[in-house]
Amino acid sequence: MKYRKFSDLGWNVSEVGLGCWQIGWSWGDIVSERDARELLKKAVDKGINFFDTSDTYGDGRSEKFLAELIKSTSEKIHVTTKLGRRIRGTNYPRGYKQEPMEEFIDRSLMNLGVDCIDLLQLHCPPSEIISKKETFEMMDEIVKKGKIVNYGVSVHKISDAMEAIQNPNVKSIQMVFNIFRQRPAEVFFKEAKKRNVAIIVRGPLASGLLAGKIHKETKFAENDHRNYNINGEAFDVGDTFSGVNFEKGLEAVEELKRLVPDNFSLSELALKWILMHDAVSVVIPGAVNKSQVQMNANVPDLENISYLLPKINSIYDELIKPEVHNRW
Ligand SMILES: NC(=O)c1ccc[n+]([C@@H]2O[C@H](COP(=O)([O-])OP(=O)(O)OC[C@H]3O[C@@H](n4cnc5c(N)ncnc54)[C@H](OP(=O)(O)O)[C@@H]3O)[C@@H](O)[C@H]2O)c1
Repeated sequence: MKYRKFSDLGWNVSEVGLGCWQIGWSWGDIVSERDARELLKKAVDKGINFFDTSDTYGDGRSEKFLAELIKSTSEKIHVTTKLGRRIRGTNYPRGYKQEPMEEFIDRSLMNLGVDCIDLLQLHCPPSEIISKKETFEMMDEIVKKGKIVNYGVSVHKISDAMEAIQNPNVKSIQMVFNIFRQRPAEVFFKEAKKRNVAIIVRGPLASGLLAGKIHKETKFAENDHRNYNINGEAFDVGDTFSGVNFEKGLEAVEELKRLVPDNFSLSELALKWILMHDAVSVVIPGAVNKSQVQMNANVPDLENISYLLPKINSIYDELIKPEVHNRW
């Protein structure tokens, strides 16, 4: 494993972290308790020290597994949770107001079994919440109360990320960035670097599409967002297959497979591509079992693939860019 610095927090975070949505729900058959514990243990054994979760993942199930991990390991690990989304329906922006937010924090402190949260991320607030100074004044207030130490923002759109980092105490931005979502590198990364804001990359495998094993006939279970959110019915479609049209995505995957070096898999190529951007602090692929964790954790040790960039870019330019580039 290799490590990078994370904003000005003095943390050395593993280049590959772990996304823990998968040990909550939304990915078909629920990951069993045994598999969840095994994959978390594997992560720590492989040197992963950064774990991303949310109070909404399995309604706290994911956070509770992380509580067990925090208790059981002697390694220094960083667990970040995302809050704000517990209110359902059109009234959900109320979740980013002080009273509900403090209630969410208290609940997550219980779930995680800790006295204070090292990094709380606002969980994809709507743009009008991000553009209000009061949102961040409220977060500063909450920091003073001692239940959280730092905060960041998870966003859907680059414009929201740009807006959020105008606030000096925003330490991190979480966003989708992958071979199928390249615009953040063009317009956001240098701004984040300038302000020393950490970048947490989610959706690195475009929900598994960039792992290369999904094909036209693949059927996703009803409770898998790759089925029920295929058109953005439940949440932003940009978080399902990275917002890429399924057939177009498969076409691009076939092209990418032709480029994969002998000692790589497509998922490794996809993660390595992300890590070649030094503005990225940590990439957080999700995993449903320990072998996926193991494979993903090996990526920092693979050689650089910069010689493939022109070919990767031309696949993106031809098949993906026209429909996604300016959407998020
Ligand atoms: N709004 C937000 O803030 C937000 C939204 C989405 C995600 N996130 C965070 O980001 C994390 C990761 O992003 P993501 O969940 O969207 O998806 P992702 O990391 O792009 O894809 C994860 C999926 O890819 C497959 N996979 C992973 N490693 C693999 C490997 N080595 N070989 C083959 N297949 C592999 C697994 O699915 P299968 O094996 O079932 O195909 C896994 O569930 C989440 O866990 C969560 O913490 C945050």
